[in-house]
Amino acid sequence: MKRSPFEGIPAEWRAMAEGFMTMRYRYQSALREVRTKLEILDDEFQMRHSRNPIHHMEYRIKSPESIAQKLVRKGLPITAEAAMENLRDIAGIRVVCAYLNDAYTIADLLTSQDDVRLIETRDYIRDPKPNGYRSLHIIVEVPVFLSTGKLLLPVEVQIRTIAMDFWASLEHQLRYKETVHAPDSLNRQLYDAAERIAALDGEMQHIHDQMVEWVAQAEQHE
Ligand code: GTP
Ligand code: MG
Repeated sequence: MKRSPFEGIPAEWRAMAEGFMTMRYRYQSALREVRTKLEILDDEFQMRHSRNPIHHMEYRIKSPESIAQKLVRKGLPITAEAAMENLRDIAGIRVVCAYLNDAYTIADLLTSQDDVRLIETRDYIRDPKPNGYRSLHIIVEVPVFLSTGKLLLPVEVQIRTIAMDFWASLEHQLRYKETVHAPDSLNRQLYDAAERIAALDGEMQHIHDQMVEWVAQAEQHE
């Protein structure tokens, strides 16, 4: 008979480890589904418009440490059940788009699929966070088909432009979830940088739109 990797481990610990391992592969499957949907949309867009709206994507399953920390913060027990019931960012995808409008196009195309249910939208592009953070966050629920039946699992999708990602990545290293408060003057500088980056995103979108129009006109006169 196959030996269990948990032999000799107390039953309580074993149940917890098994619970977390099961949760992990379920969310990995949900992540893969959303990722495939996004890749298909990107490929089709390339066929139709000769360019990719998605510059690149990043994925992650929340680490057991982060899951435990978040459960403790919320005053919940550290169990896979509590995590699955209360956390909606166990599976996360970051979609980095070329242009501002692409962020909304991708969100619309994904959420209009009939097996994708939009659970929540937080539009930090329209309403940036007070520190200047911008991104379109959506939580979608997708079906995962296992031998035991269908599961509906949430996936957090953060959609942003390359420019927004540049700011957010550096700001994250600098201070996200900091333990000491940065002086106001530094926060102000970071905020101002985010505003300038947002203005650049607007300019790049405008250049892109003019280029598309110019090409369309040039082709008409050919
Ligand atoms: P978390 O407990 O961090 O998950 O926050 P939340 O559940 O209230 O959701 P929110 O939409 O505020 O943030 C979700 C995720 O967006 C975070 O885990 C980060 O990846 C990203 N994020 C949110 N705010 C900021 C920010 O100010 N700076 C950066 N760099 N990333 C942010
Ligand atoms: Mg979160």
